[in-house]
Amino acid sequence: MHTLVHSPSATTNMLDRVLSSRRVTSHLDASEMDASADDSKTKKQNLSLLASNYLSRFVPLLHLSHRLSHNLSLISCHSDHFSRFTFPEFCLYLRSGISRRVLSVSKGLSQTLDHLVFPGYLRVPYDRDLQLVKSERCRSKHGKTVQWTSKDLIKGLEEFVPIYETRPIKNNMYGMGFDHSFGLWFIARWLKPDLMIESGAFKGHSTWVLRQAMPDTPIISLSPRHPEKYLKKGPAYVDGNCTYFAGKDFVDFGSIDWKSVMKKHGISDLSRVLIFFDDHQNELKRVKQALNAGFRHLVFEDNYDTGTGDHYSLRQICDQFYIRGGGHSCFRDSDEARIRSKRKLFWEKAVAIDELCGPIEAWWGVGGWMRDDFNHSNKPISYAEHFQNSRFIESILDVYWELPPVAGPSLTHQTRYDPARATGPIVEDGRYGLFQRLGLSRLDRSVFNGYTQMVYLEISEQES
Ligand SMILES: C[S@@+](CC[C@H](N)C(=O)[O-])C[C@H]1O[C@@H](n2cnc3c(N)ncnc32)[C@H](O)[C@@H]1O
Repeated sequence: MHTLVHSPSATTNMLDRVLSSRRVTSHLDASEMDASADDSKTKKQNLSLLASNYLSRFVPLLHLSHRLSHNLSLISCHSDHFSRFTFPEFCLYLRSGISRRVLSVSKGLSQTLDHLVFPGYLRVPYDRDLQLVKSERCRSKHGKTVQWTSKDLIKGLEEFVPIYETRPIKNNMYGMGFDHSFGLWFIARWLKPDLMIESGAFKGHSTWVLRQAMPDTPIISLSPRHPEKYLKKGPAYVDGNCTYFAGKDFVDFGSIDWKSVMKKHGISDLSRVLIFFDDHQNELKRVKQALNAGFRHLVFEDNYDTGTGDHYSLRQICDQFYIRGGGHSCFRDSDEARIRSKRKLFWEKAVAIDELCGPIEAWWGVGGWMRDDFNHSNKPISYAEHFQNSRFIESILDVYWELPPVAGPSLTHQTRYDPARATGPIVEDGRYGLFQRLGLSRLDRSVFNGYTQMVYLEISEQES
């Protein structure tokens, strides 16, 4: 247990550490690429080059329809033939026509074209390996992203694995597994906040992770049940430099007088505070509460994908609000629908086409519900409200960054998230050497089961 220690007075602005206009496009830099890339990959790249040259002629047309789709997203196209489609669906239909019929190219090339030319079309990137569209993530206002790179993440993993092996709570079922523990540790260590606040402590594993990242920084922890209660039954972690609003002192994040608590902790610059939410509450509600209090750096542990989860998440809010199905093919007899239904057999969190597209006449995504408090307090929301929510979130965001899974599913043997709807892993499938070098092969497989797109948000500075 830690004793009370003074927080170091950090001089660098936390904002400076995180912001950069650089985009992290790949999670592995060139030096990390496997030299033994197989032949088919090389072939694919050559075809890709050919394809991109060929299709560059179509890009202005696609760009135009893309822009139109944004503007006309809610307007149905009522021609007889396409009365079932919204305008963007019609564009998608055209798209498949262009890629599969008009070009009359071989199937293999056609698929390569889809991957190459259409990523981002209707803002739905393609997954190269699984040939399924990935979900929409929240956009930040100016396209800024984080400063850390894939190299930093790999270096961080090397350092974190031995730390993780010393965790006091070895079996943290219902709490964070390895991926998110690493993400939280990495983000906290990178930002070096003056104060860390967590909402949702359970037995205290996340408190312990925050402590490993910042040994001397005060923590405030909010949780209805005090972690010390769990000590009676088994391992738990109670921190000596943590103010607990827990047990009989529990106060919900939204009801705390943050002004006076910050004053008590000597915090005058709220941009130097990191908040970690793992309390399964509606994330829109939490963002609004944090915004009202003036906080700017937030991490959400459970950023549930569309069609999953027990609370309204950032992923769900920003996913597919422009068009029905968010650019996925909503045809029940489409290749995508067929592949998705097969994937359900392998990936517990795979999302079927019905979940993405919803029944006809209904809207999709969260199925009309704004879920809250572990699914105990759900409110119906209209499509218009959902749409407004996504606009609101994107209007206040400087950065939206989803932690990638630490390693590909063939390395971690996990089946609980759908890789077709996640960022490429830090250690890609096939990189067993690196997986082993980082110490990841020493960990029990079960620790990789809890990945749910942990997200780091940076809220823009608000005018006072
Ligand atoms: C998934 S667990 C947290 C796991 C923990 N962060 C970890 O990594 O081990 C969710 C926790 O949120 C707590 N919780 C429920 N309602 C809450 C609320 N309104 N505010 C804060 N915590 C809440 C639950 O009691 C539970 O301890």
